[in-house]
Amino acid sequence: MPNLRLILALLAVLWLALPVDPVLLPVAAAGQPPKTGPLPATRSAEEQLDQNKFYDAANPDYQKLQKANQALAGFPLDKQGNVDWMKALRSGTITPRTDLANGKPMQVLDLDVILKNTRDMPYVKFPHNSHTQWLACSNCHDKIFVPKAGANQITMNKIFQGQFCGVCHDRVSFITFFSCERCHSVPHGETKSWW
Ligand code: HEC
Ligand code: HEC
Ligand code: HEC
Repeated sequence: MPNLRLILALLAVLWLALPVDPVLLPVAAAGQPPKTGPLPATRSAEEQLDQNKFYDAANPDYQKLQKANQALAGFPLDKQGNVDWMKALRSGTITPRTDLANGKPMQVLDLDVILKNTRDMPYVKFPHNSHTQWLACSNCHDKIFVPKAGANQITMNKIFQGQFCGVCHDRVSFITFFSCERCHSVPHGETKSWW
């Protein structure tokens, strides 16, 4: 007669030892359709939750300041309802200066690099074109990325901790956690696009 308690204890140990990678958990969540109806394509002038919380409403000059909701009215939105800055740039909604003097044009490089170390997720397509419309080569090379396909040991944990893509994404560029599909945009083999 097998020892039931021993079997249960062994099962518990095995369960705890399962290599659960927290990074994989959002995959399921990301596959869920949005809870509300279709989001508007552009931002309305209406104030968003907490959007203007950094202003001091008690300041006598409060009324003179342009509020964030006014500044962003009409800006194109992504699937999460956040401003899509690439669309804003491409559509001409914004025309940022290339440098202080706005003298030299940006050195745009039209080169996609496919990063394939993504396990069951679609591959990552890194678009140089999008990035070099805002950034110089020296913003990334060689300090953040060795300029050689596959030469950088990138993981999601490192990105979440602010390394590699995470130097900018989750900080000044779109939030990694909510937009897996914007980077993991190339389905392969068994992986399907859920977006
Ligand atoms: C800013 C771009 C970006 C976003 C957004 C992003 N990833 Fe990644 N992901 C990467 C890069 C780059 C790699 C490494 C690919 C390589 O080195 O070949 C990677 C690797 C992975 C890997 C394999 C390596 C590891 O860390 O386990 C998994 C799994 C993964 N991503 C899941 C996700 C999930 C889930 C999301 C959404 C919550 C997500 N990623 C969002 C860029 C991104
Ligand atoms: C936002 C960051 C970023 C900027 C800006 C950037 N790169 Fe890259 N570059 C990357 C990444 C990420 C890779 C892929 C590295 C990998 O696969 O591990 C890469 C790879 C490369 C490669 C290797 C391609 C290959 O097939 O081996 C070259 C060459 C390169 N970049 C040149 C440039 C030049 C020239 C510029 C400026 C016009 C530039 N990069 C701007 C991030 C950047
Ligand atoms: C030096 C800063 C920086 C780094 C590092 C960086 N990005 Fe970005 N990325 C940006 C900026 C700025 C934008 C445009 C603003 C936005 O979309 O939030 C952007 C936009 C993007 C877009 C949207 C492109 C489009 O045309 O819609 C993708 C995809 C992307 N990044 C992937 C990556 C991946 C993958 C990595 C790492 C391999 C990475 N980025 C590293 C700054 C960076």
